[in-house]
Amino acid sequence: MTLDDIAQEIRAHRASGCGFEPCETCTNMVPGAGGSGARVVVVGEAPGAREDASGLPFVGASGKLLDGLLAEAGLERDAVFITNVFKARPPGNRDPRADEIAHHRPWLQAQLALIEPELIVPLGRHALKHFAPGAQIAEVHGTRVGERLFPLYHPAAALHNPRLRETLLGDARALRAALRADDPPSTG
Ligand code: URA
Repeated sequence: MTLDDIAQEIRAHRASGCGFEPCETCTNMVPGAGGSGARVVVVGEAPGAREDASGLPFVGASGKLLDGLLAEAGLERDAVFITNVFKARPPGNRDPRADEIAHHRPWLQAQLALIEPELIVPLGRHALKHFAPGAQIAEVHGTRVGERLFPLYHPAAALHNPRLRETLLGDARALRAALRADDPPSTG
């Protein structure tokens, strides 16, 4: 199975009659974007209106901020796979429910199993909950948690909060340092 196979399966799931409202009402399912060689997998919460219309993750205002954070972390877009814990836009942009996230969980697990990234970067408390149910984003943002988790605040939270944006930029620099620490020392 390849990332494209998983993406095809996700796209074909729309209006499949599964009974979950977002899968039935979304315009496009949003599988994620990036290659299987990604060092880092960034995991948001759920697609918004722009993502629903395009079928691509993080293309709206939060996406612009995310691009800036990835640049600050020294990551090109192709060194990153970007996805969400939930692959369909919940109506009215409500939060996805726990049973809905569980419904899509096997796809995220399959994507992570294929990519085997060095670091997983959950954005915000909803994505963090998926990987570390007991952790608080306010306590662990910008730090390495366990073997390969590096949580950041969700960029949407920083859109209208300049102080949080500064925090996010500092955390992105800490991510850059964590990735450098993983690099084998150069010889010669
Ligand atoms: N916010 C998210 O969590 N995911 C997206 O894809 C876009 C906005």
